[in-house]
Amino acid sequence: MHIQSVLHPAGVEAGIVSHLWWVMFWTCAVVWVAVAGGMLLALRRGRARTAPGSERVLFRNVLVATGISIVALVWLLFESVLTGRAQENLSTQHSLHILVTGYQWWWDVEYENPTPSLRVTTANELHIPVGRPVIVDLFSGDVIHSLWIPNLQGKIDLVPGRLNTLTLEADRPGVYRGQCAEFCGAQHAHMALVVVADPPDIFERWLTANRAPAPPPGNPSQVRGKEVFERGPCAMCHNITGSLASAHTAPDLTHVASRSTIGAGTLPNTRGYLAGWIVDPQHIKPGNYMPPTGLSDEELQAVLDYLETLK
Ligand code: CUA
Repeated sequence: MHIQSVLHPAGVEAGIVSHLWWVMFWTCAVVWVAVAGGMLLALRRGRARTAPGSERVLFRNVLVATGISIVALVWLLFESVLTGRAQENLSTQHSLHILVTGYQWWWDVEYENPTPSLRVTTANELHIPVGRPVIVDLFSGDVIHSLWIPNLQGKIDLVPGRLNTLTLEADRPGVYRGQCAEFCGAQHAHMALVVVADPPDIFERWLTANRAPAPPPGNPSQVRGKEVFERGPCAMCHNITGSLASAHTAPDLTHVASRSTIGAGTLPNTRGYLAGWIVDPQHIKPGNYMPPTGLSDEELQAVLDYLETLK
C-alpha cells in the first residue's frame, strides 16, 4: 500500500490540491522569514526609537507590512479560486459511476449500471480503473461521515439526506488508503477504505468477477457452512448473492474472500482473524452493530470453510 499522504498525489485532483498546498507553504514560509527577520532587525535597532522622525518611519513600516499582508492574502485567495476552478473543469467523459454510502462504521460500495443485474455491491474496498474519471456519489445511512483518500482527492462529507459528489482519477496503479475524516462515533478510527487502482483490463476483470453470484459450495463442510450462514444469525444482516442470505444492513459478503481486510480496515482478512471477528466482534471493534453469533466450534469452522470460497 502506498504511503497515505496528500504530498504523494497519485491522481489529477490530488495533484491540484498538492500544488495549492506547496504554494501556501512557500508563501507562508517567505512571510514567516520576513516577519522573523524584521523582528530581529527591530530588536537590534530598538534604541533608535526615540530618535527624531522615528514615528514617521514606524508609520511607513506599518503601511508596508499591511500592504505586503494584503498582497499575500489576495495571492492565496487567487490560488484557491484557481484550484477550485481546475477541479471543476476536469473532464468527466466516459466516467465510471459509483455510489458510496457511509454507515457506522463501514462503507457500502455500489457500481451503478442501468441494468440491475450488472450492478456490483461490495464493501470497504473501492476498485477503480487507472486513467478514467470516477464519479462517486456519496450518501450517509446514519450520521455525518467524511471520505478522504489523500493520495487521490480532498475530503468530502457524507451527510444524511443529501447527495454529495466527488470526482477522482488515479494516474498510476496502486493501493491507496482512505478513511473517514469526520468523527462519527466510537469506532470512527476503524472506518478505513481500501482503494485499488488497476489498469483498465484488470479492473474490468474484477468487475465481471464481482457481478457473478457466489460459487456453490464444493465439499460437505462448505455446504454445512452455507446452511449455518443461511439459517443462523448471519443472514439477518448480510447478503450473499447465490445464497438465501439477502439482508442489506451489514456489508455484502458475496465476494468477501477477495477483500484484503475485515471490519473496514480493522484487521487483515485471514481465517484466524475472521474466526476471532465472528466469535466476538465486540472485543475487536467495541460498539459496532454486529452481535456475538453464538456459533458452536463445528459451526464456526464450517462457516469459515464456506466464507473462504467466496472469492
Ligand atoms: Cu465515519 Cu468517522
